[in-house]
Amino acid sequence: MAVRTSSHKNRFFLFIFATLVVALALYLFYHFENALSATLNVRMSAEAAKDSLIRIPQLILWSMLAFLGVRALSTLIFDFLFRIRRGHEAPTLIRNIFSLVAFTILFVLIFNRIYTEINLGALFTTSAIFGVIIGLALQDTLGNFFAGISLHADRPFQVGDVIVVGQQKHTGVVESITWRAIKIRTFQNHIVLVSNSNVAREAIEVSPRDNLNARLVFFGTLYTDSPAKTIHVVREAVRDADNVSEKITPIVRIRNLGDFAIEWEIKYWLNDYAKYNDTDALVRQRVWYALRRSGLTFAFPTHTLHLERKAITRPVTAEEQIADRLSAVDVFAPLSTEELRQLATATVGHVFAPSETLIRAGDEGSSMFVVHNGRVAVQVADKNGPRTVAVLSEGNFFGEMALFTGEPRTANVVALEETEVLEIGHAAMKHLFETNPSLAESISWTIAERQADLAAGSAQASQASIQESAGVLASIKRFFGLR
Ligand code: CMP
Repeated sequence: MAVRTSSHKNRFFLFIFATLVVALALYLFYHFENALSATLNVRMSAEAAKDSLIRIPQLILWSMLAFLGVRALSTLIFDFLFRIRRGHEAPTLIRNIFSLVAFTILFVLIFNRIYTEINLGALFTTSAIFGVIIGLALQDTLGNFFAGISLHADRPFQVGDVIVVGQQKHTGVVESITWRAIKIRTFQNHIVLVSNSNVAREAIEVSPRDNLNARLVFFGTLYTDSPAKTIHVVREAVRDADNVSEKITPIVRIRNLGDFAIEWEIKYWLNDYAKYNDTDALVRQRVWYALRRSGLTFAFPTHTLHLERKAITRPVTAEEQIADRLSAVDVFAPLSTEELRQLATATVGHVFAPSETLIRAGDEGSSMFVVHNGRVAVQVADKNGPRTVAVLSEGNFFGEMALFTGEPRTANVVALEETEVLEIGHAAMKHLFETNPSLAESISWTIAERQADLAAGSAQASQASIQESAGVLASIKRFFGLR
């Protein structure tokens, strides 16, 4: 404050001194005007040039006096009258506009008085190029200037208000609004200048100085704590903290029932919003002490872990699964559990993609297959393309004809979807035939039926099968060397 007073004093003395100097210069000029004119008469011949020259210092000195007069008037109006009536300093932009307009008017009057023969207005209006040059050079400045004027007309904020402005969310107290920019003092005591045109373009959040602005502070308590008690305790602790307005009682309310806490918010109003950081901190501190005194507890992240004990069961082996599958194949019905298990050990699993060919008609073949998962189509070549004679699914078998008779494959077998098959070789079957004579017989029936299907329509199949199965059985026995 002392620094400010002494700077005001200095400025006042400087002003008085400058005014005296200019007044003295004017006095001297008029005193010696005739002598000066006589000197110029001797040196210069052109009357007009001599006349213009002598009026230049006159113009300068009067302009300086006008400038000092405008400064004095501006100080009187804005530093004294405005401050007394409004209680705070006038915005810089208003002062500057006043000074500029007043000085321009005085300058024009002085100029017209001294240079009566020159029309200043015509000089400016006829100079289009001058206007363009000035316009281009001052494009940004003028943009800021007019944005500044519109900010003053709208008065969205004033010196002393807290604002948040721009994409970078500059937050602070407005210190001044000038021709070019607004000056914000941030809460880290930095100065940020945001140009007026930017401010006019961006969204601004204003917390006016003479307004009761509110803040929110959050905390969490355990689910076992009583909400009614929490509200009472916290509200009483916050309401008499420094800078918390007494005009409105703080509000304490549940904002969410969270995963591990009752989540609260305190809404309180501030006397001086510019100090909200300190007040938020003080409110949190008050809450801590109040909860501690009242036996209430802050919540912190907790997790409940449930351990599941799994019953230990013996996993079903792949071999048991295969034996299970084989037991469902009708021709293997006579086999004992042990024989099925041995057969399962002898099988080899294969997986085929949809539409992949498993068996090709005409190929040699020394094994048969059981469908474990999926489906296959048995197809024979027809004059119209491939004809499906059968679709086989889980538990069905194929490829037995070539295996048991030694003939080439009679048809194509194609996977209709992803299909897993179990391959059974010649050796495994020979062993089974020796211990189960009936097995060869039941297989011979299936083969005879299928052969009949291939040979003709399914209507004659059963008749044909009865006639053919005996021949098939004989060839199986011959091929496998059985009696
Ligand atoms: P194989 O001849 O070794 O190869 C092609 C297989 O297609 C054949 O054995 C039979 O297992 C099977 N097959 C042929 N005709 C039929 C049918 N009508 N019904 C079911 N399966 C068949």
